Amino acid sequence: MEDPSERSDHAFETEAVHAGEEPDLGPGGTGDLVSPIHLSSTFAMDEAGDPSHGYKYSRLGNPTREALEHRVAALSDAEHAMTFASGMAAIATTCLSVLGSGDHVVAFDGIYGGTKVFFDDYLTEHFDVTVDYVDATDTDVVADAVTPETALFWMESPTNPLLKLCDIEAIGGIADRHGARLVVDNTFATPYFQRPLALGADVSVYSTTKYLNGHTDSIGGAVVTNDDGLAEQVRFVQEYALGAMLSPFDCYLVLRGSKTLPLRMRQHEANAKRVANYLSEHEKVTTVHYPGLDTHPGHDLATRQMDGFGGVVSFEIDGGAAEARAFVESLDLFTLAVSLGSVESLIEHPASMSASYVPEEERLASGITDSLIRAPIGTESADDLIADLERGLGYL
Ligand SMILES: Cc1ncc(COP(=O)(O)O)c(C=O)c1O
Repeated sequence: MEDPSERSDHAFETEAVHAGEEPDLGPGGTGDLVSPIHLSSTFAMDEAGDPSHGYKYSRLGNPTREALEHRVAALSDAEHAMTFASGMAAIATTCLSVLGSGDHVVAFDGIYGGTKVFFDDYLTEHFDVTVDYVDATDTDVVADAVTPETALFWMESPTNPLLKLCDIEAIGGIADRHGARLVVDNTFATPYFQRPLALGADVSVYSTTKYLNGHTDSIGGAVVTNDDGLAEQVRFVQEYALGAMLSPFDCYLVLRGSKTLPLRMRQHEANAKRVANYLSEHEKVTTVHYPGLDTHPGHDLATRQMDGFGGVVSFEIDGGAAEARAFVESLDLFTLAVSLGSVESLIEHPASMSASYVPEEERLASGITDSLIRAPIGTESADDLIADLERGLGYL
């Protein structure tokens, strides 16, 4: 693992605070340190057809959005970043930019449920795209799934909610050999703990709703890439087809939230490690999924590929759905809610919450058992969090 703060000319912590937000000291400048929220939907021109002040119409370009895109690109060591109205908008825009009718997708069988719904109920239905879900923890299985029509590998690492890992560099090699693209949803790891583009991915996507914003007050998404042509295509689809860009106010929130991304990630991870260790020793807990544990099947890969293990812990309790529900409902400090990546610790029972729409047989086959619980660990005191879990587990 390398030290995430020492990767470029400026350390990650410095880019997180400064990239995209220079004090406004130019002629007529106000000296603002913080990027203003530019709400204007349209921009005045001096002459017809000449966007003299750099902007024309906010869907096509907005100074607050540009500031955030500069920040996200800098944090990802990427040439291009585009920001979207949600993580799903980033995912859909990417797919509609790279796929054509008849294309084949190889996807990790553990990807986020919303992405799977988009693939199965939209892409497949309306665009004659086929998707094969494979156990991408085994790179050979990914290679075996390739067909002459394979245009896209869609991976997530670690996955939601089971924290499975795939070898991004090896799958990037397979994608290159077949002239296909590799997209990695890097929402769980964040650019602080993992850089998919440096490992060989063509694109990485984010739900900025999660760690990049980190304060439970904005829905958003981002796409980053070093491929100029692909960036142009994604921008075209965003600006002229789907339109789902991030609003100026949300851009401001993510600009503000991202300043503390490295601090928060270190605290999330330190707390998650303590919670994972505590749960692993508890008699009422049968399995703990956390890549930082040396019992996790992807632990060695995580140590090689990531610079930290992240802040989400999943675990299974000794009991069924009723016990799991009673447990998550009994906690005080952990809030019973879906989502993750914010300063507050959350807890959820995927079988009755985030994965409740998945048919039972399919859900169980994907490893989301009735006793599985997902706990995105916040930045509170680990002692307080463990005391809350101890109280809840004591009722079982
Ligand atoms: C890994 C992952 N990717 C994408 C998304 C979708 O993001 P959003 O809810 O911002 O649309 C989520 C949401 O939970 C997620 O967990």
